[in-house]
Amino acid sequence: MKVVPYKDQQEGKKAQVRDMFNNISKKYDLLNHVLSLGVDIYWRKRAVKILKKYQPELILDIATGTGDFAIEALAANPKKVIGVDISEGMLEIGKEKIKAKGLEDRIEMRLGDSEGLLFEDNYFDAVIVSFGVRNYENLEKGLADMCRVLKPGGRLVIIEFSKPKIFPFKQIYNAYFRFVLPAVGRVISKDQSAYTYLPESVNAFPDGEKFTKILDKVGYKETECIPLTFGISSIYTATK
Ligand SMILES: C[S@@+](CC[C@H](N)C(=O)[O-])C[C@H]1O[C@@H](n2cnc3c(N)ncnc32)[C@H](O)[C@@H]1O
Repeated sequence: MKVVPYKDQQEGKKAQVRDMFNNISKKYDLLNHVLSLGVDIYWRKRAVKILKKYQPELILDIATGTGDFAIEALAANPKKVIGVDISEGMLEIGKEKIKAKGLEDRIEMRLGDSEGLLFEDNYFDAVIVSFGVRNYENLEKGLADMCRVLKPGGRLVIIEFSKPKIFPFKQIYNAYFRFVLPAVGRVISKDQSAYTYLPESVNAFPDGEKFTKILDKVGYKETECIPLTFGISSIYTATK
């Protein structure tokens, strides 16, 4: 059974995820930074530090949302970042942010689906995703299409939530994710399900070695997992 945001609806996971992010787009940035106590900003910086070593000129940021990872990726000095997302609402907020920062010539935001990217094969020097892959309807299909658009030797950098395994972080994290986060998320976002879906989708996600095995299976090489902040989140890297 797939974990979906709105269990009483008939739509598939992708349509529900899109609707959910359209619903919460205006509150997404605020909730992100509040609920992660600002650590999400550090996680993106860590990932871009890894990316920078490879000096990518053209970067694709998938599930770009409101553009925070795309903006952070500019620290790797690329010529251009293209962000794609299935949620128009999230992209709208992202476009406003990019305009306000005067970054329109360096970041382009487009509507697009990771499971059927509208780019030719071997096109990007790097593909990056932060907190997106957990939401894919078909994880392997999405990861395989990202591999298709990467140049041979190109780099993949993914950040995704993972499950801490060590006492007492596991217990603290579970209590926070099950009780605090859904309650705060519900009040601020006014969406009844979005912040219940978040811990459920993290729980269902094949993290750590399970995820690197999937990356190997769909065609990536040199796959690696770097746990961050007691294992609450992980950076995955790979090469095509
Ligand atoms: C949690 S947000 C992450 C946004 C941003 N990367 C960040 O770090 O804040 C997840 C995003 O994934 C997008 N998404 C989910 N499935 C997708 C897919 N198949 N293709 C493209 N975007 C997708 C959602 O619309 C949403 O904007």
